Amino acid sequence: MSITAVSTPNIAFIKYWGNRNDSLRLPAADSLSMTLNSPHVEITVDHADTLTVRSFEADGSEKTLKEKDIMRFARHLELTKEYLKKLASSAQTPTSELTNVTITVRSQIPSSIGLASSAAVFGCLAKAYAGLVAASAETSASPLTDEQISVIARLGSGSAARSIYGGYSALRAGDGDAMDSSSAVQVADENHWLLHDIILVPTQEEKKVGSTEGHELAWSSSYYKKRLEEIPRRQKECWDAILAKDFEKLQHVVEEDCWDMHNVMQTSTPPLKYLNDATYRITDAIEELRETEHLPVLYTMDAGPTVHLFCTEEAVKAVREFAAEQKDCTIFETKTGKGAILLP
Ligand code: DP6
Repeated sequence: MSITAVSTPNIAFIKYWGNRNDSLRLPAADSLSMTLNSPHVEITVDHADTLTVRSFEADGSEKTLKEKDIMRFARHLELTKEYLKKLASSAQTPTSELTNVTITVRSQIPSSIGLASSAAVFGCLAKAYAGLVAASAETSASPLTDEQISVIARLGSGSAARSIYGGYSALRAGDGDAMDSSSAVQVADENHWLLHDIILVPTQEEKKVGSTEGHELAWSSSYYKKRLEEIPRRQKECWDAILAKDFEKLQHVVEEDCWDMHNVMQTSTPPLKYLNDATYRITDAIEELRETEHLPVLYTMDAGPTVHLFCTEEAVKAVREFAAEQKDCTIFETKTGKGAILLP
């Protein structure tokens, strides 16, 4: 019996950077994001004798997975089994076992747009595992809750915990070393507030250190401690701004947090310089545009030079025009979306 789930990436307004426990991806601080409505990843899982992972690109061609990628899926499966055992022993959920599986990943995320696919992949895989467990469990057993599914997603990629929900969601850091001590909750669903994300990808890609390695360097920056002290206030301001649909308040806190994360990255040992000249040129131009046109638009950048321009419906036309004028950039457009779902 195979189970298929679909999920999309999310983009953080308050960024997750650094863990208190790297191997369990227990974050050092809270984060908050918007789930996108595209591009999506589809994953099919089924019980099997041994773990097999196959991955297909948007054009249908099969990707050759590196040993490191397969190890990540294997480790994630082991952690998921451990978590399910823990839930079963505390009688919180189905007693059904997850054995070995075949995993087939079909990704519509173009590798050229600088969108990290790991959030969508592990959000999707967690949803699919939950579906597989529910389908094989005793009928009396209650299915996994979204919060429990977010824990499974987080064990594969920290930010994936937030892709379980539609709209806006928060990953709460929690404390301690229990594998379920950090989980995600929904802040507001996808019908609450429609925001567009116009993504500008500068074409001259720079050499990148992946986020998994990056998180481990966070503590080496002398600014990291201060960042951790500031996050609770920012998280609350961001949460409040979303509930109140206060774009100006959102803009201030999102940009403050983005620069702060990049400051930590750039001052770590070794320094991580993800932004390039095009990034700075675009963010300067947006600040200028905001000044002259009073447009509700904000920018944020993750672990790469790609700029996400978030705006309301009223500003989308002007922001699209701005994006089209930027030289040497690939443009991708998306907006607020639903969380991970199971396909019938
Ligand atoms: C800068 O969730 O990609 O995008 O757990 O190693 O997969 P892993 O890290 P990941 O880190 C996300 C970093 C970020 C900020 C964010 O999305 O919150």
